[in-house]
Amino acid sequence: MKKYRLGENVVIRPEARGALLFNRELAETAYIDRSELELLAELINGGIKRSVIPLSSLSELARAGMIEKTDEPCEFSLQEVENCLNARPPEIKNSLSAPETLHISLTNACDQECPGCFYSLTTGQGETYLSLEIFLKVLRKSHEARVLQFAFGGGEPLLNPHVLDFVEWSKKAGIVANITTNGNRVNLNVARELKAAGLGQLQVSMDAGDPELNSFTRPNYAGALTAMVDCRKAGLRFGINAMVTRDNFRALPKLFKLAREVGADGVNLLRPKPPVAAGGWLEDVSLGPVENRELIGILRQKTGNGLPVTLDQSMCFLATHRDPEELYYNGVWGCGAGRRFLTVGPCGEVYPCSHYREQIAEDGEFMAAWTGSGLMEEFRNLEDTIKGKCRTCAHVRNCRGCRSVVRELGGGFQDPDPHCPAIRSS
Ligand SMILES: C[S@@+](CC[C@H](N)C(=O)[O-])C[C@H]1O[C@@H](n2cnc3c(N)ncnc32)[C@H](O)[C@@H]1O
Ligand code: SF4
Ligand code: SF4
Repeated sequence: MKKYRLGENVVIRPEARGALLFNRELAETAYIDRSELELLAELINGGIKRSVIPLSSLSELARAGMIEKTDEPCEFSLQEVENCLNARPPEIKNSLSAPETLHISLTNACDQECPGCFYSLTTGQGETYLSLEIFLKVLRKSHEARVLQFAFGGGEPLLNPHVLDFVEWSKKAGIVANITTNGNRVNLNVARELKAAGLGQLQVSMDAGDPELNSFTRPNYAGALTAMVDCRKAGLRFGINAMVTRDNFRALPKLFKLAREVGADGVNLLRPKPPVAAGGWLEDVSLGPVENRELIGILRQKTGNGLPVTLDQSMCFLATHRDPEELYYNGVWGCGAGRRFLTVGPCGEVYPCSHYREQIAEDGEFMAAWTGSGLMEEFRNLEDTIKGKCRTCAHVRNCRGCRSVVRELGGGFQDPDPHCPAIRSS
């Protein structure tokens, strides 16, 4: 009989109807329901045959490093799983009991101007930096709620003078901190300091694998490339954030090639969201349904050659060729606002998402927003209220489009997403 234990870097958190597992090293999460949790307890106890466990659950958990083989039963793993079985956090419909990730904006200041930026000093507010006081409050509440990850962004987060402390304290509290940066402030020394502080991963933003195409949306190709090389030298895990536009999507294979050559751990593709600047930027750069169908073809050619390529949650409609149940089981739950994450701004203000800036709490009180905000409830009810093509779509639990894009393009909160490739023009 095979014996298993939780993976070395894995934490498990109780949910109302099961548990959430998180692999801190790979930054992967997996949700299991109560019956799977019970099976997991028996599996760790060495009391059942492998064939009794649904193979999909077991292989998926093993693939993501959530469980691993062991010679002796692991008391600690068993205790953790039993704690989850005994705890019953209150249920929130269509949501985790607490955020899996907090997106925290460390400042609105930035040292460059990218056309289309969704949030930076160009908002016209004065420069604001997240203070030690607010951060410590958010950290304490996150620890209590068992938040798993922080995604530090901005503005340019490396301009916040406390950034190393924030990373180090997060790590000490058991929360994985990741940073998205333009790379300008990264050098070998900074990369080493971030690694020593315990950063999970640095995401360096670069939208194309050649300087000219990249300059359509970002002015610092050379700086971003140097930042990646320094991360590799420092042994700091890093990836690339790439915003996918009409101009660059056909050139993605070239970016994937560069990512492999430079040693990136993956490329995360972002869909363009409403910019702070006025005008028709979003319409101009966004892929429509036809282009999105072409993008699906490009991504299915596996041009990443083994490089992990991930999609931001507003692009789940690119996965509609796959089975909806299987996607849901694998954690593809579509727009995660109010279900998996929320955003805290540099003054402690709380929003459902970095792109949906309607304030729902202040002073870093994110759990008050999580459990009490009417707007969060509207996000969570979308399966029942969404209109048009989305209403009858088999993928509504995996997708629901992007509310921020829909709003910017003149739609109402429950309107379908006009860029969905499943929406045919004829
Ligand atoms: C706002 S930036 C902040 C972090 C840092 N200054 C940087 O540029 O990486 C966070 C991420 O959002 C991306 N981004 C900026 N404007 C965007 C927009 N309008 N739509 C989608 N992503 C955008 C950037 O490319 C970056 O990867
Ligand atoms: S995308 Fe990042 S680097 Fe560019 S202007 Fe916005 S905050 Fe600054
Ligand atoms: S119809 Fe709506 S829910 Fe279905 S894939 Fe398209 S955007 Fe997503």
